[in-house]
Amino acid sequence: MEKTKFGAIKIDGKKVANDIKQEIAERVEVLRSENKKLPHLAIIMVGDDGASQTYVDNKVRASKSVGFHYTLLRFAETISEEKLLKHIDQINQDDDVDGLIVQLPLPEHINVVRVTDMIMPEKDVDGFTNQNFGSIVSKEQGVLPATPYGVMELLRRYEIDTTGKHCVMVGNSRIVGAPLSMMLSTEGKATVTVCHIHTKGLASFTSSADILLVAVGKPGLITADMVKEDAVVIDIGTTKIDDASRARGFRIVGDVVFDEVAAKASYITPVPGGVGPMTIASLLYNTLQAAEARH
Ligand code: GUN
Repeated sequence: MEKTKFGAIKIDGKKVANDIKQEIAERVEVLRSENKKLPHLAIIMVGDDGASQTYVDNKVRASKSVGFHYTLLRFAETISEEKLLKHIDQINQDDDVDGLIVQLPLPEHINVVRVTDMIMPEKDVDGFTNQNFGSIVSKEQGVLPATPYGVMELLRRYEIDTTGKHCVMVGNSRIVGAPLSMMLSTEGKATVTVCHIHTKGLASFTSSADILLVAVGKPGLITADMVKEDAVVIDIGTTKIDDASRARGFRIVGDVVFDEVAAKASYITPVPGGVGPMTIASLLYNTLQAAEARH
């Protein structure tokens, strides 16, 4: 395992995601050799936000790389909610499609909950629907949300045991913080504290974490003085920063001040190359599972 030059072991999400993609590609090869239907992922993108475009490009590239079929549906920023819901309904009915994701964010005039909840739960490979969200707590069969699932898988593959540990989740979003805190508590058997951007005295909570997970979207939020010696630090923050030196004009930064926190932590995820690639690997995994369950 690679140590950072600052001391902590780097949790290499890029490598783990590549391992998972390799496992999925092998499974797809078996399906192909048996003349079975190959997994098919549909992606909806509304508008032309630069960061969303990059994420969608990555998802298309990843789908191709493991041998999935894919369909990319792009709509103008001005599409009505009603029309978008109709398109989702059509894909729900399309027997060839196994997984459907709607890239977020959506324009202001569209109700995101109504849209994500329109996706048939079996095809909801982002794990965004209320039914799949509820299945985390009810422990019924469901599709686990892609980013939280990716974090749990990283912890598993690095053999970081969460049982009885104090996990502090900073961020309570519907996509990451809320489901991940539940998964750490149920499946992970951890003691979980959920903080967020309005928490008073945030450092008093974070500094008692055995495992600190941060998904806020505020660069520089977590500094070394807020982290316990030898803690595991998982940075799920993604903020787009203009950067003229990059070909695409921006770069993505996390919520943790990496260098100083890496000097104190036992394990740490970098941004990029930590949790980000795991979201896509989980999405592919969920699509493969959805396809196998349906056919
Ligand atoms: N926007 C930011 N993260 C995600 C994600 O995981 N899935 C989708 N569909 N949109 C996003």
